[in-house]
Amino acid sequence: MKKNIIILTFLVGLISLALAGSFGKQPKPAIQKGPYLSWDDDPQTTMTVSWETNIPIAGKLAYGPRGKMNYILRNDQAGTLHHLRIKDLKPDTRYYYQLLNLSAPVCSFKTAPKEPRDFKFVIYGDTRTFPEQHKKVIAAVTQYNPEFLIHTGDYIQDGRIWAMWQEFFDASRPFSSFIPLYTVIGNHERTYDNYVKLFALPGNERWYAFDYLNAHFIILNNEEDYQKGSEQYRWFEAEIKRTRPMYKWLFVLQHRQTYSSGKRGSDQDILENLEPLFRKYRPDVVFCGHEHFYERQRRNGVNYIITGGGGAPLYEVNPGDSTFHAESSLHYCQIEVRDSTAKVRMVRVDGSSPDSLVLKAAR
Ligand SMILES: [Fe+2]
Repeated sequence: MKKNIIILTFLVGLISLALAGSFGKQPKPAIQKGPYLSWDDDPQTTMTVSWETNIPIAGKLAYGPRGKMNYILRNDQAGTLHHLRIKDLKPDTRYYYQLLNLSAPVCSFKTAPKEPRDFKFVIYGDTRTFPEQHKKVIAAVTQYNPEFLIHTGDYIQDGRIWAMWQEFFDASRPFSSFIPLYTVIGNHERTYDNYVKLFALPGNERWYAFDYLNAHFIILNNEEDYQKGSEQYRWFEAEIKRTRPMYKWLFVLQHRQTYSSGKRGSDQDILENLEPLFRKYRPDVVFCGHEHFYERQRRNGVNYIITGGGGAPLYEVNPGDSTFHAESSLHYCQIEVRDSTAKVRMVRVDGSSPDSLVLKAAR
């Protein structure tokens, strides 16, 4: 009897120790999102690396040229989301980086060039709701290997739900650790909160502009006031007026359509407020999403391209008199800039390209 009590006590002790051990154990730090890249500063000399972990830990990464990742960048404050901006990089150079204290692979990126050369980038958008469709577009984009991407908004169904963003970051994993992404806010982001937390954005984070060699990009925000006299309108007017004569290429990006042959039709607010500025200052192309199809029109001397085929449920489109090409399919746009010409190609996920546009430089 006494022997049994001793054995029982011993077993209870063992079980208690095991339970205490398992309950007290912290989960191992692991990557939840990313690493993903963005340029919220000079693309020639910086790169911002972002990632999210399952538990709060300090952020630390090693970076450097090939085989020499001997520079360390850190954020000692424990957190789940980190944005670390690498500075003082050389233009047009490939760098390697690795997140430390996590099981993370070595990734790489290339800084923007300083000396003129050809370059290529991608514009796509409306990836919400069907992540499996988004993944097909991402597979095609990744194969094309652009120098950067611009997403025209509506990343997920409801941007207020933090957990839902995982869909977007899982789908974009094939490119996000080695090609930087510029973002445009869409109506499905709903509020700034999560969008601004997740993406490292240039300027005032609401609307912004950036350069890539001789191309200037102006990113508008249709979810905030852009009517005549508003803060955004005044900024945009000054920006397009100042930069149109300075750059060979000027691209404007916004989420909502100016002209559209979809069921929604053209956006009257944009026609009334922004179109007169497009008409006056002639950007090479005004790109948007919001309409889940592709459409190219030319109106009043300006090219308008809707590229909303990133994965969201496709919408019907009935081409109008001003439409060069329209179709409802999963797709993205490739843009190749070569000295004084640029070519925009609409590309389906099977690689076929039913529409393209050749642009001649303004200067
Ligand atoms: Fe939208």
